[in-house]
Amino acid sequence: MTETPAAPEPDGRPAETAVAPTEPATAPAEPDNPVVAAVRPGYEFDGTALELGGLMLDAENLSDVHIRIPLGMLNRHGLVAGATGTGKTKTLQLITEQLSANGVPVFAADIKGDLSGLASPGTPSDKLAARAASVGQQWSPKTFPVQYYALGGVGSGIPVRVTVETFGATLLAKVLELNDTQESSLGLVFHYAKNASLPLIDLADLRAVLQYLTSDQGKADLTGLGGLSSATVGVILRELIAFQDQGAEAFFGEPAFDSAEFLAVEGDGRGRVSLLELPNLADRPAIFSTFLMWLLADLFRKLPEVGDPDKPKLVFFFDEAHLLFDGASKEFLDTITRTVRLIRSKGVGVFFVTQSPTDIHEDVLAQLGSRIQHQLRVNTPNDAKALKQTVNTYPTSSYDDLGTVITTLGIGEAIVTVMNERGAPTPVAWTRLRAPESLMAATDPAAIDAAVKASPSYATYATAVNNPSAAESLGSKMAAAQAAERAEAEAKVAAKQAKAPKESRSRPRSHQDDDSTLEKVVKSSAFKSAMNTAARELMRSMFKKR
Ligand SMILES: Nc1ncnc2c1ncn2[C@@H]1O[C@H](COP(=O)(O)OP(=O)(O)OP(=O)(O)O)[C@@H](O)[C@H]1O
Ligand SMILES: [Mg+2]
Repeated sequence: MTETPAAPEPDGRPAETAVAPTEPATAPAEPDNPVVAAVRPGYEFDGTALELGGLMLDAENLSDVHIRIPLGMLNRHGLVAGATGTGKTKTLQLITEQLSANGVPVFAADIKGDLSGLASPGTPSDKLAARAASVGQQWSPKTFPVQYYALGGVGSGIPVRVTVETFGATLLAKVLELNDTQESSLGLVFHYAKNASLPLIDLADLRAVLQYLTSDQGKADLTGLGGLSSATVGVILRELIAFQDQGAEAFFGEPAFDSAEFLAVEGDGRGRVSLLELPNLADRPAIFSTFLMWLLADLFRKLPEVGDPDKPKLVFFFDEAHLLFDGASKEFLDTITRTVRLIRSKGVGVFFVTQSPTDIHEDVLAQLGSRIQHQLRVNTPNDAKALKQTVNTYPTSSYDDLGTVITTLGIGEAIVTVMNERGAPTPVAWTRLRAPESLMAATDPAAIDAAVKASPSYATYATAVNNPSAAESLGSKMAAAQAAERAEAEAKVAAKQAKAPKESRSRPRSHQDDDSTLEKVVKSSAFKSAMNTAARELMRSMFKKR
């Protein structure tokens, strides 16, 4: 990208005042520039607004217009999109910093671990100073109150677990990649477990219920559940076992996580930044996105209606959002769309972060009031189509060819439109984004570890507990049924044996003799060497029959 010339070196004073915008990189606004004239009034707000960056005149020059987003409109949801390496995460970091400073808690999944830098002060550099100067930013290094979580305790953060029951059949069907029939069957299984007072806490519980329903003992119960075939239950069971083999067991169980933790405001009035660590995302993309969806739905259930608050109760960044929509069932899509639509009135803003806006289902995309579009690359006909669709989703803009602007954006630049305080879209603005004031790299793992261990939540959630649930009660039920079956079989044998003396009179030798003679033969070395495994199997089955 083309940066404006570097600002003078910091004056050597401590970090707080290190970078001042002394370089006149901001061109005096040209009153007759039509873009400036169109954009400037659109970003003048009455209330508090977060500073995103400066309006660019072209690839080199900036105007003095500040591109901002009203704090009160952050619950109207948003999108941060762009090709890899174009600045999405830094944009997220930049917004998070200002939200926290304004007392708004933030939740974000920290896919690559780089958001953990929010806990460490940024490092001044010439490049950074130049950027800050060009957009009129008084840059100084800052740290933010970060709490680290780890999904299922895989990683160093505070473990986040959920019970299978609260996770629910729809979301589980999505992670198990079930079809519609299987999904509704799973719903019936959940319903059955509830009515039968079989708590579904972890995956072992669900497996026990499925196994029970396909067993001899459970057949009658299965028949009672209209529309549930034993074959379908078998398929679900197989999918569940495969899912467990991927290491999913750790995500489900107790102590169950209370998502209200994410709403915390620290003693100094700053919003807490909760980062969810997701190692090995590539191995289990579905579980991750579905988990985030669950968190959102759970928050929705817990929060009261607030209408349109002055500022959000929480802003939730949904990174790698395409994973949520890939292969989603109709029902799952409805869940997402509904949750996103309704959670606004609970004061929660959701920002989806993904490579292309076309990754997001159109019903959800239509609800995203703020759009920060970083560079899109066009290498294939599909990319070209995606670009065209992206351009078409913008309100009319002052740029003759918005598509060209989007494909030629520099790193850390974006096409921005947000919702103004009246709820109308602001003019489309080619923006150079501000630089985050915290570290643009991961925080030192030792510091993360120390912060985690020092957190009071760590003591609450660190150790998994296994309370009695469906697996245990079905285990004893199945054991009791098996014991009854065994007793019945033994009774039959005893009855047979009662008749046996008569039969044995007609035979020259007893079973005992018979067996011991055969045993002698079997044990002889000549016999052993002549026998192969298959023959031994055959012999054993002959023994059984006698
Ligand atoms: N606002 C910004 N201020 C300063 N530097 C930036 C900014 N945005 C991006 N950069 C630079 O660009 C690099 C890549 O940005 P970032 O990590 O945010 O990209 P990304 O779109 O999240 O990439 P990926 O898709 O790989 O996650 C950063 O490491 C930083 O050097
Ligand atoms: Mg990123």
